[in-house]
Amino acid sequence: MKKKFYITTPIYYPSGEPHIGHCYTTVACDTIARYKKWQGYDVFFSTGTDEHGMKIEESAKKAGTSPQEYVDEIAGRFKKLWKFMNIGYDRFIRTTDEAHKSAVQKIFTALYEKGYIYKGEYAGKYCVPDESFWTASQLKDGKCPECGREVIDAKEEAYFMKMEPFAERIEKLLTEGDFLQPSARVNEMLNNFIKPGLEDLCVSRTSFKWGIPVPFDPEHVVYVWIDALSNYITLLGYENDEYSDMNYWQPSTVNCQLSTVNCLHMTAKEIVRFHSIIWPAILMGLDLPLPKRLYSHGWINFGGKKMGKSTGNIIDPFILGERFGVDAVRYQILREMPFSGDFDFSNELMLNRINTDLANDLGNLVSRTVAMVIKYFDGAIPVSSLKFESGEDSDLMTKAANLRNKVDELIETPKLSEALGEIFAVISRANKYIDETTPWVLAKDETNKPRLAQVLYNLLETIRICSSLLAAFMPTSMKLVWEQIGVSESEGDVTYEKAGVWNDAFNYTVKKGDIIFPRFDIAKELEG
Ligand code: MSP
Repeated sequence: MKKKFYITTPIYYPSGEPHIGHCYTTVACDTIARYKKWQGYDVFFSTGTDEHGMKIEESAKKAGTSPQEYVDEIAGRFKKLWKFMNIGYDRFIRTTDEAHKSAVQKIFTALYEKGYIYKGEYAGKYCVPDESFWTASQLKDGKCPECGREVIDAKEEAYFMKMEPFAERIEKLLTEGDFLQPSARVNEMLNNFIKPGLEDLCVSRTSFKWGIPVPFDPEHVVYVWIDALSNYITLLGYENDEYSDMNYWQPSTVNCQLSTVNCLHMTAKEIVRFHSIIWPAILMGLDLPLPKRLYSHGWINFGGKKMGKSTGNIIDPFILGERFGVDAVRYQILREMPFSGDFDFSNELMLNRINTDLANDLGNLVSRTVAMVIKYFDGAIPVSSLKFESGEDSDLMTKAANLRNKVDELIETPKLSEALGEIFAVISRANKYIDETTPWVLAKDETNKPRLAQVLYNLLETIRICSSLLAAFMPTSMKLVWEQIGVSESEGDVTYEKAGVWNDAFNYTVKKGDIIFPRFDIAKELEG
């Protein structure tokens, strides 16, 4: 039986155009999902859209359409983008799906019946003309952030979820294992939320209608987080008959005395609190096991600010992908984003990355090697002449053969940028090896032919290993590399097992192909 691995992106608000920021999380999850599948896991990868709430209701109104029509349109754009970006998800959930809605009602009722949800009063700042509640921190100069008018203190009846019963176990989860990554975020959660004492969470509203009605009190709609977070289990079939994949939510390990599912939730840092405190509390309330890991990455900024709809500084992934290639965009965002911290998107940085890493280092390594094998050996390396005495070859051979174990470890955390760094270090080492061994000089003397064959064979082996490891990151272009160096996926040449060992006797027959990563004239591109 294959070991199960479940990976999720947040479900995105369909309140505007999807942008490069959304792409980062989704491409990262897609890469990890592909890598894990390649390793032999039984992987389930989910994404989707979070379609309820006041903001959506308002955006629909502004657009002159109904909320449902509005979300249908934008959910469609997300799906189109994921297809374009080559995202191989297993399920796309929409919180307006009937199965999800009825499951959320059952979850809400169960928490209520267990005494974790109670009716109380929500007090906040209220804008009368807009009929909207705001928290003090949302106000702009003490006024309504939407319309700029005065707000008043007001109260409305609301349901709350108790947090106290779960506080101790949540603290244990955060402090005793490695649930939350990067670990610096653990202190933020402890200092800002756990130590001051967890406040009960408001889980219903009566001031807007676009949401899932509370089944036993339909004046109320379920407010945001119980609706949104529950997607991670409703899409597997929790409390509904639509899906039957709850076997991905079975405990596989015990983490600080809490049973955990082999699940990785990936989000950016602004929703860590909901995923590291509220979500575990909901699961504990339902007596369900907890996810093994939450990885919260930084932000892609643009012009120094978080890229987002409200700032209006968004980069359109369709435009980038069409101009520079989807794999180049996938590579650039994954390579640039540090494990903890943000990065500032710039077109210049992206073009430099494409030219340096993809066109020069990787692209040239492949095309030069293939060209030399064709020129000196008519395209096929004579395996019989190989000697494998190592010597000056040993550094490259060891680095390539050890690479998979390093990448495995980095994918686990997950440190994708560092994983790419390791792979490209070996690619650079291979380019240096060409300079050291000077195949064109060897070719001048017929007696050097066996040595020349050996050098080219070593380069092809290194390319095979590196491209196998890169396939999860850049699936389309690595297939093109394989065609050129003459290895085949269907023949089992690029399996996980084979990527971890140096093969001494592969019959390489290469084929000249088109340039895989074109170079861009940076000045010209930036002008345009
Ligand atoms: N609907 C909630 C999430 C509910 S999950 C149960 C939400 N939606 S969102 O549309 O605002 O998406 C937030 C997520 O989109 C971030 O956590 C991150 O994964 C991704 N990103 C959106 N903009 C981003 C950047 N500028 N940079 C990095 N990631 C970004 O919050």
